[in-house]
Amino acid sequence: MQIVNLGRLEADVMLFGGPYSNLQATRAARAWAANRGISSNRVICTGDVAAYCANPAETLAEIRDWGIPVVAGNCEKQMAAGASTCGCGFDSGTTCDVLSASWFAHASARIGPSERAWMSNCPDLLQFELGQRRFVVVHGGFTDVSRFLWPNSPDTEFQEEIDAIRRCVGPMDGIIAGHAGIAFERSIDSVEWINAGAIGMPAHSGRPTTEFVTLTVKGDVTVHTLEYDNIEAAAAMRAAGLTQGYDRALISGWWPSEDVLPESLRRQSCANG
Ligand SMILES: [Fe+2]
Repeated sequence: MQIVNLGRLEADVMLFGGPYSNLQATRAARAWAANRGISSNRVICTGDVAAYCANPAETLAEIRDWGIPVVAGNCEKQMAAGASTCGCGFDSGTTCDVLSASWFAHASARIGPSERAWMSNCPDLLQFELGQRRFVVVHGGFTDVSRFLWPNSPDTEFQEEIDAIRRCVGPMDGIIAGHAGIAFERSIDSVEWINAGAIGMPAHSGRPTTEFVTLTVKGDVTVHTLEYDNIEAAAAMRAAGLTQGYDRALISGWWPSEDVLPESLRRQSCANG
């Protein structure tokens, strides 16, 4: 268990997850931060740098050059260990399971020892203070890096993670997470659970833009949309042979599989209101 304390941050923070090998989106996020004068020590990534899209090595190089803190996602854990799957725990034979075999193999084949060493050094948990509040950053959950906590998951599931984190690092005011690919905010037991979304894949919303979050010194949380060259990113996926459906998701804004989603977040449910 690697824990890193970033100390006190002195101004507003940019939070995002899931670069997912999407080089175009990662460059756009970096430009957004630069345009607003947000220095690299105040940009935090919740992990999964290399995943679905075409450019794992280039995206990782961009993140490393940017120099931002990155908490280990399941993709970092699995690739650092030389594993053959993404470690999401998808049920065997589901669409997510089948699709992940393609993109994980693509990503894993394009990174080398230096990248795997960097991934193995990503912490499991980050801490920082902002204003009068204390925050913790994890990937999926603390008890399980690949735990999916959705906007409508039961309070008890968030509570389990909050309790486990408190036992490890003491009280906190907010927890920042990723993995689910959808930005949201929940308040559970006086703790703000903030999912910072994913910049590398739309949030199954029907919109091609992606999402990230800012957190102000005063405590305001805002979900932002990231516009980037999704046409180029999708073309790069097709050129790389990644044509299993996530390439089209960059254009349509809809994931190719809803296996992983709770029933109420599936497209049919959304369409039915
Ligand atoms: Fe993940």
